[in-house]
Amino acid sequence: MQSFFLLLLLSSSFIHGYAQFQSKNQGFISMLITQNGLNFVKDLLVKKAISSIVSLQLPNIEKGTKIPFLGNVYMVLSNITIYEIDVDSSNVKPGEDGILILASGVSCNLSMNWYYSYSTWIGPVKISDKGSAQVQVEGMEVELKLGLENQEGSLDLKLKDCSSSVKDISIKLDGGASWLYQGIIDAFEENIGSAVENAITKKLGEGISRLDSYLKSLPKEVPVDDQSSLNVTFVNDVLLSESSVGFETNGLFIGRNDSLPIPNLGYKNLKLPIICTNLSKMLAITLDEAVFNSASSLYYDAKFMHWIVDQIPDQSLLNTAGWRFIIPQLYKKYPNHEMNLNISLSSPPVVKISNQKAGAVVYADLTIDVLEEDEVIPVACISLMIQASGLVKINGNNLVGTIRLDSFGMSLKWSNVGNLRMYLIQPVMWTIIETVFLPYANAHLSKGLPLPIIHGFTLQDAEIILSTSRVAVCSDVAFAESESDRHILQSYNSLSR
Ligand SMILES: *[C@@H]1O[C@H](CO)[C@@H](O)[C@H](O)[C@H]1NC(C)=O
Ligand SMILES: *[C@@H]1O[C@H](CO)[C@@H](O)[C@H](O)[C@H]1NC(C)=O
Ligand SMILES: *[C@@H]1O[C@H](CO)[C@@H](O)[C@H](O)[C@H]1NC(C)=O
Ligand SMILES: *[C@@H]1O[C@H](CO)[C@@H](O)[C@H](O)[C@H]1NC(C)=O
Ligand SMILES: *[C@@H]1O[C@H](CO)[C@@H](O)[C@H](O)[C@H]1NC(C)=O
Ligand SMILES: *[C@@H]1O[C@H](CO)[C@@H](O)[C@H](O)[C@H]1NC(C)=O
Repeated sequence: MQSFFLLLLLSSSFIHGYAQFQSKNQGFISMLITQNGLNFVKDLLVKKAISSIVSLQLPNIEKGTKIPFLGNVYMVLSNITIYEIDVDSSNVKPGEDGILILASGVSCNLSMNWYYSYSTWIGPVKISDKGSAQVQVEGMEVELKLGLENQEGSLDLKLKDCSSSVKDISIKLDGGASWLYQGIIDAFEENIGSAVENAITKKLGEGISRLDSYLKSLPKEVPVDDQSSLNVTFVNDVLLSESSVGFETNGLFIGRNDSLPIPNLGYKNLKLPIICTNLSKMLAITLDEAVFNSASSLYYDAKFMHWIVDQIPDQSLLNTAGWRFIIPQLYKKYPNHEMNLNISLSSPPVVKISNQKAGAVVYADLTIDVLEEDEVIPVACISLMIQASGLVKINGNNLVGTIRLDSFGMSLKWSNVGNLRMYLIQPVMWTIIETVFLPYANAHLSKGLPLPIIHGFTLQDAEIILSTSRVAVCSDVAFAESESDRHILQSYNSLSR
């Protein structure tokens, strides 16, 4: 499962709830599901709940009852099947002590078989008959109260309360004697009502518990590539407010095999939440710049930021002849020698996000190597300070970026070929940065960072908002249940089996 989590039942909360919220652990990626997002999820769940209830079979009901003029009649209702269910309206309301889902105007149609027998007072003759019946249950209300908590880094979903109440039952018999109709109503109305209530609450309870298992089974790491994962362990309490549900996850990059140390980013003060400009978006995911800096340290430690360049668009720069007028002494010492460039970052790139831009500062040493026979001879080293700014976009469920050069500075670190005239070298460095360094960086950035979104859901009409030290993605989501999406909602389906 490539990308996962989110869309679950859940707080303007960030707006209301954030202030009083005590942070124990820093969460670098936070997610907020707005009322619109909750409605979307609720509608999916109601749809799935309905399909799990259709064709649900209820236990038989039997009863002896006294019918005027007939005496004691034994009656059985069997094969009681809900074949259609309709929900008039449903609402989801998060609140401090849980999430309330209320479905009202629920009606369902049932089919059943009836059977009765009695002994006449005239003699030992037993009279019996059977047939079928249609029952319509109307005006039912179903109320679920869900608790959602962070339990040791996973989400724990509990059904705190589930109730349903039937308002009206109407029964239509096919065949049977006329006394039977009233008899069944009098004798069975209550039983049918409570059988339906019990069956539905039991089914919903099972559904919630499966959803809970699904949530608990969500991985705590989202793989990014073969080197790294995103730690999506939940931290801190779930934030339930009056109109949204918020989560925080650790959100930092970790090595795939845990052998790499997690950079210590220190404690940062909680910041004000980002407010999406469009409040009708279903969800907001906020990433702290620490997420990007953890990626940067991780790849740096993994020695990913050191490379030898032996092919560049302007290949003449890899022969001392190409440097003849720039570093005359180089050409004199090593005429027509092949060269390569050893670019090595001297520290992890530092990512800074402000409300104007996302930027990075990269310090690198560029060593000029001359190749002689089998020997690589370093001849000079130039320190570079590259300032780049980026464009952040959404591609699928990934956050991707492209960077461009804002400015760069350089200084000579050392040289074996005399003093270099930096004003001559500067345009060459510019060319190398533009044609080698940036394309390399952009090729990596275009793969992007998978946002923690539950499988099957895709971001739609996402909007990116930059603010001090953070990036927020405000988005709607769509759900597509494909053959391979054997997750969340399918487990709901299996209830009906
Ligand atoms: C039980 O009900 C189902 C659905 O209404 C129907 O298909 C089936 O034939 C019934 N079985 C019996 C034994 O009446
Ligand atoms: C139930 O059946 C009645 C008639 O038998 C029909 O009018 C109504 O549309 C049905 N309702 C549902 C929810 O199936
Ligand atoms: C992931 O984050 C959790 C919560 O902050 C932390 O306890 C855990 O050690 C992290 N996992 C790794 C592999 O660093
Ligand atoms: C784990 O990391 C270590 C040190 O970086 C590396 O030597 C090793 O090959 C890695 N193992 C796997 C399975 O990736
Ligand atoms: C806000 O988002 C909603 C839902 O995505 C969209 O229908 C609406 O056009 C957006 N409004 C503006 C002003 O962008
Ligand atoms: C590249 O340069 C760095 C220093 O900038 C040096 O440590 C490293 O050994 C060099 N790599 C090669 C393959 O020459």
